[in-house]
Amino acid sequence: MKKRIFSGAQPTGDLHIGNYLGATKNWVELQHEYDSLFCIVDMHAITVPQDPEVLRKKSLELARMYLAAGVDPDVATIFIQSDVPAHAELSWVLNCVARMGELERMTQFKDKSEGKAERASVGLFTYPVLMAADILLYQSDLVPVGQDQKQHLELTRDLAERFNRDYGETFILPEPFIRKDGAKILSLKDPSKKMSKSDPNLNATIFLQDDADTIMRKVKKAVTDSGTTIEFDESRPAINNLLTIYKLLTGKTSEECVSDFEGQGYGQFKPALGEVIVEFLKPFQERVAAFDEAELRNVLDAGAEKARNLASSTIETTYRNLGLK
Ligand code: TYM
Repeated sequence: MKKRIFSGAQPTGDLHIGNYLGATKNWVELQHEYDSLFCIVDMHAITVPQDPEVLRKKSLELARMYLAAGVDPDVATIFIQSDVPAHAELSWVLNCVARMGELERMTQFKDKSEGKAERASVGLFTYPVLMAADILLYQSDLVPVGQDQKQHLELTRDLAERFNRDYGETFILPEPFIRKDGAKILSLKDPSKKMSKSDPNLNATIFLQDDADTIMRKVKKAVTDSGTTIEFDESRPAINNLLTIYKLLTGKTSEECVSDFEGQGYGQFKPALGEVIVEFLKPFQERVAAFDEAELRNVLDAGAEKARNLASSTIETTYRNLGLK
């Protein structure tokens, strides 16, 4: 039997090149080797206020993006989280297993609630528990994500282990799948931060829906380090980041990337990188626009049905082991 992978993204903001290189690209590469589930996590999105109409639209748009990125609905299960009530059910159970102290240590909550913790929703606080439920519900073996989700994966394993210890073997302990290259694509404006959907500086992020002029402008304005050579160098995060994007989108080796720009500087490299991104995104954007709405609904309905079936058997075992049935 194939091992299983599970992953997801939030339908908030627009997907950016960091989401693609850190996560979605790996989903596509792994989907034939693993039994794969890719979720549109709309219940995570409501941990901060959302406009209902926009959220509905964004969820469908994100499904289009998964497909355009190469997720194949004939081999992978694509579904919307709120179509499977078991996510909320298992999340409640795990809320009773998780401890306040361990959630208080989650850096993403600390970052997102900084200075306004009193007014942050309780949902934002327990967000990592819902994420653990997503993963454990499907007895997932592997979870392909970017670096920023590593701590949530560790919590997921801790919760699974604690539940198994206290109530008997119930969950498979999942492993994170985080590739070295692309696991943390940095902001183009401040390479001490990751690229983020919600960065107020729009020039910091390349969105998958950006047009060619916007991409060229953002790449040309990207901050640079003090050196002038185009090389991978851990001590120069800005060029390291830009070259990593170049490497992953061209599929070249590190040596090939460096030799492409030997003896050259940012003046040659930046326009070349911009071109590579534009050339990659053009067919992607055409595919996003091309998906027929009815076909999309069919993919999501079929995905939800498959996911509900898989999830129900975990819920049954969990409830039984807990004494709820
Ligand atoms: P989200 O929607 O913020 O991001 C989706 C995926 O993109 C990765 N990512 C990045 N990778 C590299 N560089 C970056 N700058 C970058 N920014 C984001 C994220 O690590 C993620 O893999 N909590 C998750 C969604 C989620 C989930 C799950 C994921 C909910 N349940 C279960 C896996 C399994 C999130 O907010 O991702």
